[in-house]
Amino acid sequence: MTSCRVSVVLATLLCLGSAGRHHFHPEPSDEAGARAASPDEALASHWYAEAHAALEALHARRGAERRRARNVVMFMGDGMSVPTLAAARALLGQRAHRPGEEAQLSFEAFPTVGLAKTYCVNAQTADSACSATAYLCGAKANEGTLGLTAAVPRGACNASLAPHVRLASVAAWALADGRDAGIVTTTRVTHASPAGVYARVADRDWESDADVRAAGHDPAACADIARQLVHEYPGNQFKVILGGGRREFLPTSAVDQEGTPGRREDGRDLIAEWRSSKRARNASCAYAWHRDQLLQANASLPDYLLGLFEGGHLRYNLQSDAASEPTLAELTDVAIRMLSRNERGFFLFVEGGRIDHAHHDNLAELALDETIELSRAVERATRLLAEDDSLVVVTADHAHVMAFNGYSARGADVLGPSDDRDDDGVPYMTLSYINGPGHRREVDGRRVDVTQEEDFRGVEWPSHVEVPLRWETHGADDVAVFAWGRHHDAFSGLYEQSQLPHRMAYAGCFGAGPHACGAAALRQPLMALFLVLFMQLAKLFP
Ligand SMILES: *[C@@H]1O[C@H](CO)[C@@H](O)[C@H](O)[C@H]1NC(C)=O
Ligand SMILES: *[C@@H]1O[C@H](CO)[C@@H](O)[C@H](O)[C@H]1NC(C)=O
Ligand SMILES: *[C@@H]1O[C@H](CO)[C@@H](O)[C@H](O)[C@H]1NC(C)=O
Ligand SMILES: [Zn+2]
Repeated sequence: MTSCRVSVVLATLLCLGSAGRHHFHPEPSDEAGARAASPDEALASHWYAEAHAALEALHARRGAERRRARNVVMFMGDGMSVPTLAAARALLGQRAHRPGEEAQLSFEAFPTVGLAKTYCVNAQTADSACSATAYLCGAKANEGTLGLTAAVPRGACNASLAPHVRLASVAAWALADGRDAGIVTTTRVTHASPAGVYARVADRDWESDADVRAAGHDPAACADIARQLVHEYPGNQFKVILGGGRREFLPTSAVDQEGTPGRREDGRDLIAEWRSSKRARNASCAYAWHRDQLLQANASLPDYLLGLFEGGHLRYNLQSDAASEPTLAELTDVAIRMLSRNERGFFLFVEGGRIDHAHHDNLAELALDETIELSRAVERATRLLAEDDSLVVVTADHAHVMAFNGYSARGADVLGPSDDRDDDGVPYMTLSYINGPGHRREVDGRRVDVTQEEDFRGVEWPSHVEVPLRWETHGADDVAVFAWGRHHDAFSGLYEQSQLPHRMAYAGCFGAGPHACGAAALRQPLMALFLVLFMQLAKLFP
């Protein structure tokens, strides 16, 4: 117990040293009326302390004897709200010709469920960047920012460079403990959620140097997200990086294998640079842009694997070319095999990123199908991992405003109209949206009957919508957290989203939190010191 307490104090001092000393206060937010409950919300130490207090209480209930989770896999369904889960499970069941409501997504069988609160420091409703900062770096942040405390307003390049505002992610904590790390996503690997694992950037949109420059900043000072992934810690240590987004890595003068032009204005080919940086370490590496190359790499695993299977995001599962594009389950499978070679264990982040995109376009079927794909990926992971030494956590970054509504009979087509009618006798959909591009203007004071539309029920047919908006918005409701494996029970309850990485680190006995177990407890302060030194060195020699 004593060594635990010493390690908390030391690690906290080492990791948050300057933040604790300077009491940095947030700039007035750009958001009209946005206000934090306390100026301390701009400090990482505020959120760390909030999480550590919850862990103290948890630990008091569970007792001291703990065995660590060697491997931690975090699955994140972007925008996977609770109604999305209920509708996706019904669709899963109905595809198997059952009523559907009784079906289960793979992770719905997990022994522990919790709820996470997703608001950000200056936003009632989270975006994928501030929420990624919460569930990966353990501190709530400002909308649109990644890996930075809420002392940094969105777009503030200079402010993002102060050492005390820069956060380390749970992947960096795991690396500091000698474990391996990696990311898998169906979006560009530079998109907000996966970038939360490795980037510190004042604007989530700064995916290539062209974006930094377009915002009026110097990419040499504020490195773009792709460059951070290839050259900065911790991205430059990842053993596996799988997703989309080749265009952010290639110069405008280049066109990739599938015809997408590069977007970089600095003339750099970061895919080639990734390769040569691994060769400089005398390590083997493989780059894959096609599913066949992924399977080749799987047959003979290289030390490092980079797979970018599209110029932009991977296509929706229902619209993808199965021959050239791997499924999320396949990507997850290969990533776990890559990382399992480390005896100390690993941290892997897997995102089903396009649930969110489909919802933004009011495309319910695509959102549900992407959710089912995530469920398949989770199932693959739990088959590959041992329940007594691995932890799998499945959650979402924020909700959406799709409603699962009406009074339909048991087993009614979840993608169809309700059995019920509106007060004018016009049908309405079981899955409809509060807002978004699918709004139809009323005709003669009545809603239109969308079931009569030509493309009704087509995969790209938007469901009907109350409020017209170019993009459907996120929802501010809580998101579910499912946990399986060692210390799964540390995820029950209702808590701040920023507690998630602290809870994962608690289960895995790594990072700066309280109650690191066994020998790891003594190593913590040294590891934290090493991490800080390493990050400083990495900045000197990018
Ligand atoms: C950022 O810092 C640079 C160099 O210190 C300075 O020239 C520039 O004016 C600063 N920009 C802003 C917006 O503060
Ligand atoms: C590089 O790896 C090879 C094969 O594993 C080994 O023989 C060689 O000594 C290594 N070279 C360096 C500079 O580490
Ligand atoms: C990777 O290889 C293993 C055998 O080593 C195999 O079981 C697995 O299915 C392969 N993964 C994929 C995605 O094909
Ligand atoms: Zn979104």
